[in-house]
Amino acid sequence: MGKKVVLAYSGGLDTSVAIKWLQEKYSMEVVTLTIDLGATKELSKVKEKALRLGVRSAHVIDAREPFVRYFIFPALQAGAMYEGVYPLATALGRPLIAKLLAEVAEEEGAEAVAHGCTGKGNDQVRFELSLQALAPHLKVIAPVREWGMSREEEIEYAHAHGIPVEATKKSPYSTDENLWGRSIECGVLEDPWQEPPEEVFQWIKPPEETPREPLIIEIGIEKGIPFRLDNKYLKGIELIEELNRLGGLHGVGRIDHVENRVVGIKSREIYEAPAAILLHKAHRALEGMVLAKEAMRFKDMVASQYADIVYNGQWFSAFHLDLMAYVLSTQRVVTGVVRIKLSRGTATVVGRKSPLSLYKYDLATYEKGDAFEHKAAEGFIKLQGLPLKTQSQIQGHLLFGHQEIDFSSVLPPKLVPLLEKKGD
Ligand code: ARG
Repeated sequence: MGKKVVLAYSGGLDTSVAIKWLQEKYSMEVVTLTIDLGATKELSKVKEKALRLGVRSAHVIDAREPFVRYFIFPALQAGAMYEGVYPLATALGRPLIAKLLAEVAEEEGAEAVAHGCTGKGNDQVRFELSLQALAPHLKVIAPVREWGMSREEEIEYAHAHGIPVEATKKSPYSTDENLWGRSIECGVLEDPWQEPPEEVFQWIKPPEETPREPLIIEIGIEKGIPFRLDNKYLKGIELIEELNRLGGLHGVGRIDHVENRVVGIKSREIYEAPAAILLHKAHRALEGMVLAKEAMRFKDMVASQYADIVYNGQWFSAFHLDLMAYVLSTQRVVTGVVRIKLSRGTATVVGRKSPLSLYKYDLATYEKGDAFEHKAAEGFIKLQGLPLKTQSQIQGHLLFGHQEIDFSSVLPPKLVPLLEKKGD
């Protein structure tokens, strides 16, 4: 009996060819693992296909619930947006898939796992770093990275090995999707100057085709976790699905981004992420009501670090947990309701309230009932101004006198001829 490998199997051409390739080249018994993170594919068909290709067993796992609970919602609480714009759908899914691969490998007594990532992307990094943290004893095989076949050669290989190649016209795009969003790359998108053609979008209507009438929705949040849409109490999965639908209908959540990949290149990425965009907006607006200014400033820094960790594949790291401890501490007070208006491609927060709000009407108002102590401002300004006044008195002529900084003192000219001359 040969050695066993568990392959993360999507049912597509790459991973189907990988089944045969692992059997042939490594003489291994292949077990497939297909995971549902909320993509629209028919998983029973994927399983059948794997079995027809002679795998030892084909596992299918619906991991949507843990995906939302342990990955999506924590990332929402953290405010994690890579480079400020990408809600990290694919990046959040990878560590979960890696964890399930490791678990199935243990159950099956497999000594290796395999994935269908190329050598140019982020996903190989995320899978393999996660596996190193969770199951360092496992061997990892990356067939697509190893075999060096072109698309045509792959199709030839598929025909030669009885692998069905779907006769659909081949899309020039590479896509990935789960509950938290959809990504599209390659084809004409590789020219960052080209507007993405309408055909790349599947979830979100162009603003021109959205309803004229705006839609106002209310999102209820408790301790940073959304749980209510208008008057419906919804489980995470349903809430996200419904927001994806509503956002898509109103043209909200298209993202066009030139992104810095882990492997050192820039790439142009299109995303569709209506629910993620709406929930991040709502969550942040609520934080604006309940968190102190310093906490918000600091949390922004944490959010950017956190997003990098997720993007770079370091989910299973101590640093992640350290940051999460801070995030969870802040979320104890993030409870309330946010109202968002969806209209012709835009989503605008138009209302927010919370029982723990630090916004106090009597302090904020300019009307009667104003409880703010105006007189106290005088002393406050005096002390705030004290260091500035001192500085101005002593250094003002240097700091503010009319002069230009000459940077030649810190930007040396070409030094090589200078050094040569010295040696003469
Ligand atoms: N650029 C995104 C990321 O790194 C999306 C990657 C999509 N993956 C794919 N295999 N098409 O998270």
